[in-house]
Amino acid sequence: MVQISIVYWSGTGNTELMAQKVAEGVREAGQEAVVLSVDLADVSELKKARAFALGCPSMGAEQLEETQMELFMCDLENGIGGKQIGLFGSFGWGGGEWMRDWEERVRNAGASVVGEEGIIVNGAPDEEAEEKCKELGRALAVAVS
Ligand SMILES: Cc1cc2nc3c(=O)[nH]c(=O)nc-3n(C[C@H](O)[C@H](O)[C@H](O)COP(=O)(O)O)c2cc1C
Repeated sequence: MVQISIVYWSGTGNTELMAQKVAEGVREAGQEAVVLSVDLADVSELKKARAFALGCPSMGAEQLEETQMELFMCDLENGIGGKQIGLFGSFGWGGGEWMRDWEERVRNAGASVVGEEGIIVNGAPDEEAEEKCKELGRALAVAVS
């Protein structure tokens, strides 16, 4: 079994719930999932992986959370060429610009966004959003097998 990391930042738990559902999808598809808050994640481990997922809500003004996820992303960016990366996150009132910027950043670093788009959810994930998160997990499991 391949271990797939799901690294997230979440202030009020919405993105964390999404991370748990991505992990469920990975496990349903027969691979191992590890869900890690970004402060506990190791950039060098992700740089060794073929595929992983990153989650962060829209913060600031349509930005990644700046004290942890933004710094993590800066460290990661130069070593993700050829990788398959799932993106997800919750938002409140915006139009999803933070996610489009994030997708572009991942592609500019030479990686692919799993499913072509990050999953964005207004507030807490409902059943349909949870299913999308699981689908992402299943796609990640396929990407490493
Ligand atoms: C400081 C701060 C800035 C935010 N900025 C945005 C924003 O620019 N656009 C948006 O759609 N939501 C914004 N939000 C709303 C969060 O993205 C939303 O509450 C989300 O569900 C939080 O996810 P979490 O529970 O994983 O922390 C902001 C929230 C906070 C606390």
